[in-house]
Amino acid sequence: MSGLGDRIRELMQEVEAAVAESAEAAEAFRVHYLGRKGVLNDLFEEFKQVAGEEKKVLGRELNELKSRISARLEGFQASHSKQREDKSGEEDLTRPTGAWPTGSRHPLSLVRREILSIFNRMGFAVADGPEIEDDWHVFSGLNFPPDHPARDMQDTFFLGPEVLLRTHTSSVQVRAMETTQPPLRLVMPGRVYRNEAISARAHCQFHQVEGLYIDEGVSFADMKQTLLQFTQAFFGKAQIRLRPSYFPFTEPSAEMDVYWGLETEADYRITKGTGWLEIMGCGMVDPAVLAASGIDPERYSGFAFGMGIERIAMLRYQVDDLRMFFENDMRFLKQWERVV
Ligand code: PHE
Repeated sequence: MSGLGDRIRELMQEVEAAVAESAEAAEAFRVHYLGRKGVLNDLFEEFKQVAGEEKKVLGRELNELKSRISARLEGFQASHSKQREDKSGEEDLTRPTGAWPTGSRHPLSLVRREILSIFNRMGFAVADGPEIEDDWHVFSGLNFPPDHPARDMQDTFFLGPEVLLRTHTSSVQVRAMETTQPPLRLVMPGRVYRNEAISARAHCQFHQVEGLYIDEGVSFADMKQTLLQFTQAFFGKAQIRLRPSYFPFTEPSAEMDVYWGLETEADYRITKGTGWLEIMGCGMVDPAVLAASGIDPERYSGFAFGMGIERIAMLRYQVDDLRMFFENDMRFLKQWERVV
């Protein structure tokens, strides 16, 4: 009777190796092994003759073979019934999904979020304002004299005599000061527009983050410390310098440089051999600007700063053409797929 044991083991191998390329083949498999006149019934028939010790062992092996055949059959049927459903347009809603391709955040969003989160940790809240603005919030309320070149059509997109696309996020400062009495501690991200020829370095639209801190007794030293903290947190660079500059709405005004270093050839190129890189404009809010928005300049003082998100993203991700940020080229954007 040991012939039966050998047959069961051979069949086990045969079943493991079986394939069914179609629903018809799966059905043929079923009939061959499990059908009324199929292999398994024959075996059970033979098994009736077995007696004694052997019965126990062979019985277990036979049952194993049977469950293996059933499992394989189920597998064949499942894969082919899926094909049938696909053809008929029906979906198996209980079927587990495959991996979905994930989207990615835009590099400018990543940089904006990081800048905001660093300032949030220092107690700055987020505010925003409209992109279509009036002259007062973009220029007059910020102390721009009537004949300032920034008001020129060459630099500003006008939609009407008094209506324009904001050229900087400093307009949101004015809105904040008009509606809220100090203390004010805000960061204001947003898109801005300037009538510039599009090139690798300039675009007619870009993004800024503005900062504003107004309270009693706020000094230039507070500004410097705040900006140093930011620089260390964002760039991991330990040194900044403030160069005198001019903006109509701040006095004194400065440009902040970060010491980038001169370690690589790229460092030489982007810092023009100086090791220093300009990151933002800043200054103490001009008392005339405070007064124009209804804040008492005798009691309060404050500082403001503004930086370009594209410029910072270009540094962070070593992008050397600004236009890439606006073209939605999937090959470019896919590089940030895993950065969430
Ligand atoms: N608004 C200025 C610009 O667009 C930047 C700035 C903001 C400067 C705040 C000083 C204070 O260039």
